[in-house]
Amino acid sequence: MRIIPQPKEVHTLPDIIRLQEYRVDSTHFHDRLDTIEKHLTDILGKKPVKDSGILIHILKNDFMKTEEYKLSVIENSIGIAASTYTGVFYALQSLRQMVVSKDKEETIIQCGIINDFPAFEWRGLHIDVCRHFFSIEFIKKQLDLMALYKLNKFHWHLTEDQGWRIEIKKYPKLTSHAGWRKEKDGTVYGGFYTQKEIKEVVAYAEKLSIDVIPEIELPGHAQAALSAYPEYSCTGMEMEVWNDWGVSDEVYCAGKDSTFEFLRDIIDEVCELFPSKYFHIGGDECPKTRWKECPDCRKRIQEEDLKNEEELQSWFIRQIEKHLLSKGKALIGWDEILEGGLADTAVVMSWRGIGGGVAAVQHGNQAIMTPWANLYFDKRPFPEDKKVNLPILSWEDVYKYNPIPEELNTEQRKLILGAQANIWTEHIYTENEFEYMLIPRIFSLSEIVWTTDENKDFESFKSVIEKHLKYLRESGYDFESYRQQVIDKIEVKNEEY
Ligand code: ACM
Ligand code: ZN
Repeated sequence: MRIIPQPKEVHTLPDIIRLQEYRVDSTHFHDRLDTIEKHLTDILGKKPVKDSGILIHILKNDFMKTEEYKLSVIENSIGIAASTYTGVFYALQSLRQMVVSKDKEETIIQCGIINDFPAFEWRGLHIDVCRHFFSIEFIKKQLDLMALYKLNKFHWHLTEDQGWRIEIKKYPKLTSHAGWRKEKDGTVYGGFYTQKEIKEVVAYAEKLSIDVIPEIELPGHAQAALSAYPEYSCTGMEMEVWNDWGVSDEVYCAGKDSTFEFLRDIIDEVCELFPSKYFHIGGDECPKTRWKECPDCRKRIQEEDLKNEEELQSWFIRQIEKHLLSKGKALIGWDEILEGGLADTAVVMSWRGIGGGVAAVQHGNQAIMTPWANLYFDKRPFPEDKKVNLPILSWEDVYKYNPIPEELNTEQRKLILGAQANIWTEHIYTENEFEYMLIPRIFSLSEIVWTTDENKDFESFKSVIEKHLKYLRESGYDFESYRQQVIDKIEVKNEEY
């Protein structure tokens, strides 16, 4: 995790450094120096001063890998070397962790040299803001947490059967109507982000070296959108934003050309907001009930010489892939996009197990591992928690997971971009419950994506967890009150998944 840096190379010197006053010296990274000094002020609890104290020297070394850094803490100086701002940023996060992990209250840290880089380029966290909505302030707080543990991909699940959460100027009913659902008890639940707010989050994430990947679900999980624009469904009939959990039969019609115009328009607006090279199109859990009965979909199958509805789904995804490629974007989809034939450039997110990831890389595509068994953080973290009827997933369970499937050969292994934990929020109603679901499992997630399996050290990992929890508690993360509620059995319903 970098909860304690476990570097490729450490030379621990028998000394400590006292962080009293410090100054920053760098002839590089000028456009980022303000940000770097802001982070240092936050980490060390004081602003840099002129001409005195410890020297923090930041150097650009173009021979280093993009995310690599070297951090040397020796008497009277701290040296940071990296080829990019991201590398410098990770050195600062390790410095922060050294401060967090130190034994004494005084501002001292152990001297040593760390040369470090991540095992995987995709170190992700997915948040579903559709089933339950979270404010941009809360999202930014979780980005801070991701950054501290050197996660770098925020996968923002923005559209669902139960709510559409991103403003699309050309289709205002997506938020005025599809952003709100009438719950079974008659209350109205919802919310959405304006484009201005989305840009604010993306800019905030960029400073933390986090790439934000939007997910716009298609062809399934589309009931909210279709409740606003039923003309893009197979039946054209009116429907509500869904107020149940599970998988709705209401999906985009694959037979109407107008559906693709609608989706291309949406994608065009979304691409303007997210500079990321990746774009997630969902692709999971698309029931074929409507397509089987729709004359337009039957006609499409015939005209395109497709065998069945699985091939129609694959054809659907390829249309979207073509559009995304024309905009310089790489398509990511959940592992169902393998069914009926995988689009040539698609990146597969393996969630139902590791099989989708294995099949994707055997096909020559890239994959990201997010298996349900190991990395679904909607499972409850502690045995006393019986809120949903799913297996418990403890932080120790997460720690044991290795994102590289054993059956892959050396070349295929290179196609595994990394791993990601997914937080689905059907049963997560509040911010404190969310943080309880994330902390401390985020530590284990960080460890498995940064450190190779052979470099992991469970005992040293475990030994600093309490210190990190203390730091996070003091930084305003509330991962404990919900657990107390569980232990006291207050307001915790046993919900069917
Ligand atoms: C998923 O959990 N339906 C990707
Ligand atoms: Zn149709």
